[in-house]
Amino acid sequence: MSIRTRQAVLQLKPYSPGKPIWEVQREHGLDRVVKLASNENPLGPSPLAMEALLRSAAELHRYPDAGFSELRSALADTLGVTPEHIIAGNGADELIKLVAEAYLETGDEMIVPSPSFTEYEFTGVLMGARVVPVPLRADFTYDIAAILGAVTPRTKLVYVCTPHNPTGTYLPRGELEKLLEELPPSVLLIVDAAYGHYADADDYTDGLDLLRQGRTLLVLQTFSKIYGLAGIRVGYAVSRPEVIEALLKVKEPFNVNALAQTAAAAALADTDHVSRSRELNADGRRYLTEELTARGFTVVRPSQSNFILVRLGAEAGRIYEGLLQRGVIVRSAAVWGLPEYVRITIGTPEENDRLLEALAELGRRAEVPAPRVAE
Ligand SMILES: Cc1ncc(COP(=O)(O)O)c(C=O)c1O
Repeated sequence: MSIRTRQAVLQLKPYSPGKPIWEVQREHGLDRVVKLASNENPLGPSPLAMEALLRSAAELHRYPDAGFSELRSALADTLGVTPEHIIAGNGADELIKLVAEAYLETGDEMIVPSPSFTEYEFTGVLMGARVVPVPLRADFTYDIAAILGAVTPRTKLVYVCTPHNPTGTYLPRGELEKLLEELPPSVLLIVDAAYGHYADADDYTDGLDLLRQGRTLLVLQTFSKIYGLAGIRVGYAVSRPEVIEALLKVKEPFNVNALAQTAAAAALADTDHVSRSRELNADGRRYLTEELTARGFTVVRPSQSNFILVRLGAEAGRIYEGLLQRGVIVRSAAVWGLPEYVRITIGTPEENDRLLEALAELGRRAEVPAPRVAE
């Protein structure tokens, strides 16, 4: 075959997702597997979303609402903006791609934190843009001066992710404000707040209040995390109406399926599920941070998210594999250039204890000296 793909496609690296449960069950012959790898909600989906979804199944012969009007106005009411400030997508992933499609010409520049969620880079490369990674500081916090220093006349987009994936660290309000103030008006700042519901620091902001004050930025959110709907794929972006209009122009007509729209609107109203999820996460995050620290591991702090980044050291690869063999899936951070680290999603108390038990088994095994040859 001599059909050539676009140049940009040659440079794309496939996304590397967390290992699915079925794969680990099959590979290691296990019944029970604990997945702490993809930052999903261990409490499961919002019960109100599940009920709404079943009720709406009888309408599946109809196309979905192309303008997601029910979800859009529910979001607008909850967030204190007008529906024109909102677009929904097939996961926040789709919105990241729509932003790139709407704004990036070949040769434009896009600044992304490093390490970070790889979808940003993927969409920039896809559009033929130059992706400019700006490293986090050694303690995994943002270096605003470095981001501002990377801006050139070709910069169109700047991504920050707060709480940050994969580190759990966050960008304090004052620094976000400074960034917004100093970026030229020709640059769109995108605040990915996929994990924003889990943050409890006094100076945390997902940027929505700044948007409501009339500042120009785009805030990304998802129903995949605290709302427990990762499998059905809904995310949303909030920005000025002219930005949202540009994204609406490039989206597929029926980008959010009917079940997803119904489930997301119901999940949004399920404040009980959200607060139970937040509490479970805060308790588990404290517990795992303390227990892992007591075992001599370094936990990147403070995590404001539903996962922690943990330094296991030179043995990280062996421990990661050992956990898999014991049916505990965590995420190797080697994909982010951090081979001594793993990212661990906070689970239920039982799941967290299973992780600690499996780690202890591995530790004990490591401590047993190798049998010595008889002298
Ligand atoms: C930082 C960040 N942004 C966006 C997403 C995408 O979320 P969605 O499932 O809505 O596509 C994720 C998913 O893990 C994420 O970690």
